[in-house]
This record gives sequence, structure tokens and C-alpha cells, in this order.
Amino acid sequence: MADTAKISIGGKTIDLPILKGTTGPDVVDIRKYYAESDTFTYDPGFTSTASCESKITYIDGDAGILLHRGYKIGELAEQSTFLDVCYLLLHGELPNAAQYEEFEHTITYHTMLHEQFDRFFQGFRRDAHPMAIMTGAVGALSAFYHDSTDINDPEQRMISAHRLIAKMPTIAARAFKYFTGQPFVHPRNDLSYAENFLRMCFSVPAEDWKPNPVLTRAMDRIFILHADHEQNASTSTVRLAGSSGANPFACIAAGIACLWGPAHGGANEEALNMLKEIGTVDKIPEYIQGVKDRRYRLMGFGHRVYKNYDPRATVMQKTCHEVLKEVGDENDPLLKVALELERIALSDEYFIERKLYPNVDFYSGITLRALGFPAEMFTVLFAVARTVGWISQWKEMIEDPAYKIGRPRQLYTGALERPYVPVDKRP
Ligand code: ACO
Repeated sequence: MADTAKISIGGKTIDLPILKGTTGPDVVDIRKYYAESDTFTYDPGFTSTASCESKITYIDGDAGILLHRGYKIGELAEQSTFLDVCYLLLHGELPNAAQYEEFEHTITYHTMLHEQFDRFFQGFRRDAHPMAIMTGAVGALSAFYHDSTDINDPEQRMISAHRLIAKMPTIAARAFKYFTGQPFVHPRNDLSYAENFLRMCFSVPAEDWKPNPVLTRAMDRIFILHADHEQNASTSTVRLAGSSGANPFACIAAGIACLWGPAHGGANEEALNMLKEIGTVDKIPEYIQGVKDRRYRLMGFGHRVYKNYDPRATVMQKTCHEVLKEVGDENDPLLKVALELERIALSDEYFIERKLYPNVDFYSGITLRALGFPAEMFTVLFAVARTVGWISQWKEMIEDPAYKIGRPRQLYTGALERPYVPVDKRP
């Protein structure tokens, strides 16, 4: 491909540089385009627009490939731990043994919350959705940790990243406990990240809580699968919020708000609701017909980037089987519905034509339910895992010399300038 693209507009030809990444599509650099053509480009939903340069995550949606810093998601999910992946995303390389130990220690010793912070939870209604609590509570972190809000100080940026990764499970577990009406459980430094989180969620003062290695491993793997996903809606929200110089805690709260939507992180809750609504295998054809009649979408299916099987869904399906076996729910009717729905959809022309495959959310709902979480917690768990991706992308943006405040343009189709009409003269 030539190193420049040419656009002819208004009798003028404009040369636009073509930039090459290490892999993936080249990009046409349109930064000077407006100055030279006096026109904007139009791309609602950013279907063709690269908003930044990044070295963190690569997705080839047609081939079903997801790499973090060059490592395949399947290998990371099988062989790594969530904290290993956190270090990788944040620093660019896998840690050696000493670096891992230090990182684990740092994260573990940042898991506690300021005592005053707990009072925030009491202000919410008991039936508040845990994501509503998360959005509010995480935003409030900037009121507590003033010594890590200077975005121009690299050390403070790293401390805020550690604090967010470490405290998010504690906040999430508190949102869950508050929602279920049980007392808060404090973190313990002798447990792993996933063990600590499960204990803070499921232990009660009335009985001992014993870690289950299969369930702990599944939780850790679910965190790995959701750790980062390139420039998705919530990550782009974090970058956009951060582009104004907002502090990292406020930016992550913005990301959580975006993640909540059913087209994004809320999809696993919707996917489980859908499986419950279908209920039994014999109702699947009728449900599929409703999808084809465009009355609703098949939740947990389709993806803006993957036009092939989501590689995370492969690992999630395996994890789902392991968890259901461990908790003795192998014959869960919802699993039967899910497997059959997947089989039918993958062989149906409607879905094949549109390249609709199961995404990570299709099996995560059943798995999380088997781990003991209610549907309201699903997106919260996603937020816990994605925090490292958000903060790594935010940090990369702040450290990019080319970074500017994000300010999209628009195609204005509203009224032209007109005189103000006083209220008594209006029709
Ligand atoms: N069920 C049925 N049809 C679908 C679905 C679906 N889940 N997803 C897309 N389609 C159809 C659309 O109707 C459209 O058909 P048409 O060309 O005949 O009009 C075509 O596929 C393309 O759909 P778009 O909406 O243009 O695709 P887009 O890339 O914008 O959407 C999205 C991606 C939002 C994820 C979509 O597939 C969807 O709504 N899926 C269900 C929600 C979901 O599972 N979200 C989780 C995403 S993964 C994550 O956030 C971790």
C-alpha cells in the first residue's frame, strides 16, 4: 500500500499519511484533514476510526484472536494468574518472580478502604443496584486519596493504579454485602486476590469460610478474561474523561457508568435473563423466530469487533462446565438451553450471514450464578476485572506525547440562526 492516501474534494487533492501498526489495519492519518479541506469526517459509533495509538491489546475480530501485550488470551487464562496479567497490562512485560512477589504484596496491602469510606454505603437504599453503588462509591475514592490524583506525577499515577486494582474487589464485595443485608467482611492479607474477593463476598460471621480451589481458579480466570479489550465503549469513556486531565478515580467511575449498559457489560445479566425466559430447550425455535422478527436480540451473541467465535467465550464455556461440575449443577437446565441455543444459532443462516457468534457473556452468567452471585452482581465483577485495563489505557494515554483533549466534531442538522421570540409572541 502507498504511504499516502489521496482524497479529492472540492477540486482539490489532499494527501493523507498512512500509518502502520505492528499488525492490524493501517490507518489514514486525518489530523490535518479539516485544516486542508474545511470538511469533517463522519463516523458515528467509531466503526472506522482509530481514536488512539496503543501497545496494550490487539484483537483480530475476523480470526477470533485476542492478544494482551502479544500473549494469547487462551494461554493467559490457562497458565497465568489475574495479578500476572495486571502487571503485564500495566507494565508491558510479564513480571519475573521477584517483581511478581513485590506486585502481589503491593496490591494485597492496598486492599483496605479508609474507615470513613464505609459510611458511603449506608447512604444507599438497601435495594440499590450494586452497579449504582459502584458508580457512586468509586467516584468518591478521589475524595480520599488526594496523594495519588496528580496525573502529571508518574509515581502518583502508579499508586492510583495499584489502589484501584486493590480496592475495587473490596468495594464490589461491600456493594454485594450491602445489597444482601449482611455485614461487611474485611480483606485478609494471607489470601490470593480471587480468594480474598470470594471470601469478602461469601463469608458470614456465623461460620467459617473455606476456599475452594476450583471456584477460586474459575473466579481468577473470569477476571483474566475481562481484564482488557482494546478501545471498547467503557475504555474509550475512561480515555475521554481522562483526556481533560480528570483524576484517575473519576475516570474509572465514568468507565463503570458506561459499562453498566446492556449492550456492553450489562449483557451477561441480560443473557442469563434470556436463558431463564426461554426456560426449556423446546422453546428455543420460537425464541429464535422472535430474534429473526427483530422483536429482540439474542443476548450474549454478536460483537462489534469479533465476526468469529470470541476466544474468551471458548475459555468461558470450559470454565462454566468446571464450575457446574464442582457445585454439582451439571444438569442445570439453563446450561442445556445455552448449549442447544448455541448449536442452533451457529447452524442457522440468519446468524451465519451476520457473523453472529457467542461472546464472552453468553456463558459467564450461568457460571457466575453457579459461583453464588445474583445477576445484579455480574456487571460489578466485570468492572472489578476491567479496572486494570481501564487504568493501563488511561496511563498509556497520559504518557503519550500526542495526547490531546478528546473533542469530536459533528454534522449539524439543527436550526439556522434565528431571532429570539418572547414567550407572549410564541404560537
Ligand atoms: N441478536 C440478533 N441479531 C443481532 C445481534 C444479536 N445479538 N447482534 C447484531 N445483530 C444483527 C443486527 O440486527 C444487524 O442485522 P441487520 O444487518 O439485518 O440489520 C446486524 O446483526 C449487525 O448488527 P449491529 O447492531 O450493526 O452490530 P454492532 O457491531 O453495532 O453491535 C453489539 C454489536 C451491540 C454487541 C450487538 O451484537 C448486540 O447488541 N449484542 C447483544 C448484546 C451483547 O451480547 N453484548 C455484549 C458485547 S461483549 C461485551 O461487552 C463484553
